[in-house]
Amino acid sequence: MSHATAFPGSPAPARATAAVAARATDLSKVYGRDETRVVALDSVSVEFGKARFTAIMGPSGSGKSTLMHCMAGLDSISGGSARIGDVELASLGDKQLTRLRRDKIGFIFQAFNLLPTLTALENITLPMDIAGRKPDQQWLNNVIETVGLSGRLTHRPAQLSGGQQQRVAVARALAAQPEIIFADEPTGNLDSRSGAEVLGFLRESVRAMDQTVVMVTHDPVAAGYADRVIFLADGRIVEELHEPTADAVLDRMRLFDAKGRTS
Ligand SMILES: Nc1ncnc2c1ncn2[C@@H]1O[C@H](COP(=O)(O)OP(=O)(O)OP(=O)(O)O)[C@@H](O)[C@H]1O
Ligand SMILES: [Mg+2]
Repeated sequence: MSHATAFPGSPAPARATAAVAARATDLSKVYGRDETRVVALDSVSVEFGKARFTAIMGPSGSGKSTLMHCMAGLDSISGGSARIGDVELASLGDKQLTRLRRDKIGFIFQAFNLLPTLTALENITLPMDIAGRKPDQQWLNNVIETVGLSGRLTHRPAQLSGGQQQRVAVARALAAQPEIIFADEPTGNLDSRSGAEVLGFLRESVRAMDQTVVMVTHDPVAAGYADRVIFLADGRIVEELHEPTADAVLDRMRLFDAKGRTS
């Protein structure tokens, strides 16, 4: 069995299949207190396998972004545990957490979080520049070309459309080849063609490069690119699909909508 080598020079060695890139165990997150108290995550247990592409779906407010933020060490947790590899995030000090995020995690935010004073290219390479790492030029070129930014590298975010800014954010996460990428609706601002390209690229980076990707999406077609879909509702995992098709995801979403209306 051999993978298509979309990324020349990048070996795709056989890996132990059961390796886990990130893991939540009885993870809880509570915001506020008394009358403003919100249980955003209610004892969530889930594993994100290495070199797997996982989609997270669920209604607005179900806890999708919160789960990603807690797993990426961007938000504290209220109970249980969040681990990247074998590292328990709650056990890390601020400096160690910053280093772990910088070296091992790529995050694509729902809002793109680009630095306004830097060009597109500078934004893309920023995490590596901070870490003092040189980008793999061939990989960087491949990423930039795939997200269609070759002609916009010297533009600043204010000079880019929303879709282009999102593509910079996607390229930034991919460029450093982190151990795990968390993407919060990475195609939410893209037209369907750019969206399909980005999704295809994410999937290919999983297949050929053993990249691990966890992606929030509302779009069944986008979820169809993943190896697995997890459905959240009210801060709990309520369903899981393997090797999903867009149709299967849509069916499942309809089922939840119907349940939601009758309960
Ligand atoms: N900083 C915060 N302070 C208080 N409550 C919060 C905060 N962030 C999120 N919440 C609450 O936690 C719950 C889960 O929010 P979250 O952003 O994870 O939802 P989501 O599934 O990502 O929704 P969407 O699809 O709209 O992005 C919501 O009820 C939200 O109001
Ligand atoms: Mg969200």
